[in-house]
Formats: sequence, structure tokens, C-alpha cells
Amino acid sequence: MQNHRWLRTPAGTAPRISFGADYNPDQWPREVWDEDVRLMKAAGVDVVSVAIFSWAKLQPGPDTWDFDWLDELIDLLHANGIGVDLATATASPPPWLTTAHPEVLPVTADGTVLSQGGRQHWRPTSPVFREHALAIVTKLAERYGSHPGVVAWHVNNELGCHNAYDYSDDAARAFRVWLEERYGSIAGLNHAWGTAFWSQAYSAFDEILPPRVAAAFPNPTQQLDFLRFSSDALIDHLVAEREILNRISPDIPVTTNFMVVGETSHADFAKMAGEIDFVSNDHYVVEGRDELAFSAAITSGFARHRPWYLMEHSTSAVNWQPINRPKRPGELIRDSLTHVAHGADAVCYFQWRQSVAGAEKFHSAMVPHGGEDTRVFRDVVKLGGILQDLGDVVGSDRARADVAIVFDWESWRASELDSHPTEKLRYRREAFDWWTALTNAGIRVDVVPADTPLDGYRLAIAPVLYSAPTALRESLERYVEGGGHLVTTYFSGIVDENDHIWLGGYPGAFRDLLGVRVEEFRPLWEGEQVALSNGTTGTLWSEPVDVTAPDVEVLVRYEGEEELDAAVTRRPVGSGSAAYVSTRLGVEGIGALLPTLLDGAGVASELPEAIRGSVELVVREGANGRFEFLINRTDDEVDLGEGDYLCGSAILPARGVAVRRA
Ligand code: GLA
Ligand code: GLA
Repeated sequence: MQNHRWLRTPAGTAPRISFGADYNPDQWPREVWDEDVRLMKAAGVDVVSVAIFSWAKLQPGPDTWDFDWLDELIDLLHANGIGVDLATATASPPPWLTTAHPEVLPVTADGTVLSQGGRQHWRPTSPVFREHALAIVTKLAERYGSHPGVVAWHVNNELGCHNAYDYSDDAARAFRVWLEERYGSIAGLNHAWGTAFWSQAYSAFDEILPPRVAAAFPNPTQQLDFLRFSSDALIDHLVAEREILNRISPDIPVTTNFMVVGETSHADFAKMAGEIDFVSNDHYVVEGRDELAFSAAITSGFARHRPWYLMEHSTSAVNWQPINRPKRPGELIRDSLTHVAHGADAVCYFQWRQSVAGAEKFHSAMVPHGGEDTRVFRDVVKLGGILQDLGDVVGSDRARADVAIVFDWESWRASELDSHPTEKLRYRREAFDWWTALTNAGIRVDVVPADTPLDGYRLAIAPVLYSAPTALRESLERYVEGGGHLVTTYFSGIVDENDHIWLGGYPGAFRDLLGVRVEEFRPLWEGEQVALSNGTTGTLWSEPVDVTAPDVEVLVRYEGEEELDAAVTRRPVGSGSAAYVSTRLGVEGIGALLPTLLDGAGVASELPEAIRGSVELVVREGANGRFEFLINRTDDEVDLGEGDYLCGSAILPARGVAVRRA
């Protein structure tokens, strides 16, 4: 995303937040299309993603192609002012392909071959799949690459959603090539993987396999490299499709939809973002409103705070959770506008019209089974109107905050491998707790990948920064020496990029910076709590922390535990500081500690005290000014005070969103 390139818009159209959905008219008779267009216009829809799952229809056999329906569809949409985000149709290979070539089917770690009959049943490293996929991409690019109705290319769909980890022989071959590139020699690999352990030394790359089901814990660095490799294999597929699109259709920007949501960690989206023209994300509510906001902020971090495209979310219930409840009144609009607050310049759903058949027939859509005379469709029309009122926001960046949470994909995946002090640690949960506590305190927060320069942030929270390669350690030291205030937690600074321990005591790489030393971790039993001197409690983890630098201040102590003393420490370094939290405080405990950390860093809430916590504030800033998004986190009305409102007004209803000029 070096050069941010947004949707092509027809000349003369006013800037607007784009609005639309995945559109699957190939599931419907032709007469429904006209009805769709009528309703799209009623709702203000100006962009739809088509052909995501149309491979079998576009290429019904190895040598037969059928583009007539797609020609007609794109022309129809274009004639009605609706842009097409055209998918490359490679997400779900047709049955004729997997019948002729079962060798494209993915294989799980225990050797099970995944069957056709669902979707995404292909190996990212299969040369046979690649050849067929690129053939259809080429056909589509040649046919539609200069169609004025195509506003963007949509590569595949949710790369790796179901097929990220493939343990097939194709994967084994590609893994060896990847490893040889990374390590140069088998000796380099043996060192990195620590293969002196358990007689694992390799004498040649040919002997290496993906970490298939083994008799005992597979080598952790092998596991970590397989995670990295599997993400790179998805990126490799993305790049292969993109290169064709760029060559044949250079004027149309290319994107692919990420899945920044909940515990989904299979792809390194920070890296993937470097290969596309603008970031897109799919988000579904998995854990409530704050998780949505946190995910949107992570997505904005990947987009380097430039505008991004919300490719999918839901108008109401989904079909894939254990229990699927509809959204409550107001949530449809609030959820969408929360994404806009965090930088989305396009608001799209899965999907336009609710399916009549198939696994997703109970998944909500913009046009429900009940048709246009429904609460959902009325809210959709209302949202379409609100988005048109937000034209001035289009193109603006999500404005930088004073506080950053460093969200490190490497640490996430490495800290949760097996054979650790506890299997209960959840990296994302710790980061999300800090997000929630800061939002409760009325503080705006950025969430940034670990390679983001932190200068300019007064306070940087790097929770569970388990993986600490030398360059990262040095950049954090420079940040603190330059006046930054760093907070890190338990299980940070533990290993280098090879998952080798930094020796001499924990928290390894950050021991000197923090001025503390820990000899042994002391994870807590499930349900166990340790009392803390500020009246809060710790769970999950505790540590006997030795203070090693004379200037370290103990902010919070453990109480009533004979093996434990200092729980939270802070060491001043020049005009900056480095703080260490040795237990899981949870939202409440972080909330109790925050005033000390915020005061120390000179950070204050921008919200009046009365509405802190009730309202989430997010700011966007661009050529047309600075815009405050105020999102009601509660089920009560909130009084925001007078202002120049683009959307909403001083009285913010339950679950409402207002936007005003700052
Ligand atoms: C994903 C997919 C869509 C659809 C939705 C349902 O986001 O990309 O095709 O399956 O999930 O929530
Ligand atoms: C067994 C094995 C050792 C070691 C320990 C760890 O005893 O023989 O090699 O793995 O377990 O507890």
C-alpha cells in the first residue's frame, strides 16, 4: 500500500462514502436483477462486489466459458450508477476441476484430505490450482479490465479463511524452498530451529516436512516458520493474481479482503497490506461493540491510517456462530458508522439479498427474506442517507492519537504456541483489555503494527511483546530515550526471531530498560486471583519481580503472597519511562492503574468528564477539516453539547453515533 489508490470514481460524481454489498445475482432469476437495481437505488447503493463465487458459472468446464450473464450484469449496474468491485472468482474451484485434479485439495496436519462441496478447497501452493486460477483471472482482466463500470479488482476472497494451513506434499515442497531462502543453508536452519534438541538435526532440506501430527510436541520454531510460510503462501497467491491484473488492467486498483476480527490470525495482514492498493476488511460482531471498534482500529493501523474499505459486515444475524441473534435497534447503523469513524470510506455488507438456498440462507442481508418492508431494509435506507451526508469526511485519515497499542502478529502467534508456562494466555485478549480500559477512560488510541515508528506517541502500550528481535528492542529503547513512555507486560522480551530465549533472566530483551529481573514465571490456576496493593487483583500470571535498577519505582505490589512483592514497576529514563506489569490486570485493574500512567505521560482525555466512558471518540482529519465521531457505547441517551453536527445532534440516543466538526 505504498501508493494508496482508491476506487475509480466516474468523473463528476461528488465524493461519498461508498455503500453496498457482496452481490450474488447468479443465485437468482434474471427478473430479480431489475428489482435489485431498483432497491439499490432506493438505498443509495453505489458499489457491489460481484463474481466472488462464480467460477463454476463462468467456466462450466475446462474449455467452456460463459461471460454473457456477467457482461449483462456489469452493463446493467453501470447504467444505473452502481460501480462493480469485480472479484477474480478464484475463491471456490468448480467440481470439474477438483474431480480432474484431486491433487489441488488441501490436507490437514493429520493427513485428512479436505473434500469439495464447501468452498476454498484448494492448496495455496498447488501449481495445478495456480495455473487454473490464473487462467480465469486473465480472462476476466482481458474482458473487463477497461470497463468503465469496474471500480476495483477483488482478489479471491478472504485468503486463507478455510485453507490457510495446508500440510500436503505441495506445501512440503514450497516450505523447503521458503526455508532455503530464509536460512541459506541447512546449518542455518538447524541453528534457528534448535535441532540439537531431541535429535532433530536435518542433513538436507529434502528431509523437512510441515509440522504434521507428530508423536510429541513439534519443534516450536518449525511451527512458527510454518505459520509465517503459510501466510507468505497466501500472499504469493495474491501477488500472482495481482500481477496479471496490473499488467492487463493497470488503471483499476486492486484489493483483497482481510479478516481482522476476533482470534483470526492466519495471515500477516500488515505484510499483505504492502501488496494491494487499499486495505479492505471483513468484520463480524463476535464479542460486542468494543471488539468491533478494536478490530477497526487494528485495520486502520494496517492501512497506515489512510481510508480503507469495509468489504463485509452484517446487517443483523450471521449463520455461523453457535447461536445467531439479530442486532438490536440502532446497532446496524452504529456498527457501520464505527467502522467509518476508524477510517472506512466504503461500507459494504455480506450480502445484498438474503439467499434462498445454501449454507448462508439464515445469514442476514441488506434485503432480507421478508423483502423491503422490513426493519433491516428501512435501516439500510436510513444508513444510505447518513453516508451521503458524510461526503466531507471522504478521503480523510484517521487522526493520530497520543496513545498507541503495539499489536504484534509475531508475538500473538508465538506466545500462544504449546509447551509454555500456561496454555491460558491470550495475546489479543490482553491487548483488547488495554483498549477497553483506555476507551473507558475517554482516551483515543491507535493500534499499530510493531514496525511502526512510535515517536510522536506520548504513551505506547506493548502488551505481551513475547517476540523481541534485536531491532525491535533497539527501537523501543530509542523511543523511551527520546522521551516516550512505554508500558509492557508479563511474557514480554522473552525470545528472538528464532524463538530462542534471551538468557540472563526475564523479561530478557527488556530487562535493562525496565530495571527488573524475573527468575521464574508463576502462572496462576484457573480462577485464582492475587491481591494487589491498589485494591485490584491479578489473574492468569504472576512473577517474583526483582528490582535491579535503583531508580525503579514500584507502583503496585502483590499483597499476602510470600513469594511475590513488586507487581507493577516504572523506571524513569531521561524524560521518558519504561513500566512493567507482571500480572494480568484485566479491564478493571488497568483502569485503576491508568491515571498514573496517563499522568506520567502527560495524556488527558479530550472528552468532558460526564461522558467519558459512555462515548467513544474517534477523529478523522483531512482536506475538509477535522471530524469527531462520538459513538454511544451505552443503552442510555447521552448529552454531547452543541456543535456543528454532520450527523446526529447534541442528544445522542442509545447506541447512536454523531459526527461533528471539531
Ligand atoms: C465471510 C465470507 C462471505 C460470507 C460471510 C458470512 O466473510 O467472505 O462469503 O461467507 O463470511 O458471514
Ligand atoms: C520425560 C522425558 C524427558 C523430558 C521430560 C520433561 O521424562 O524423558 O526427555 O521430556 O519428560 O518433563
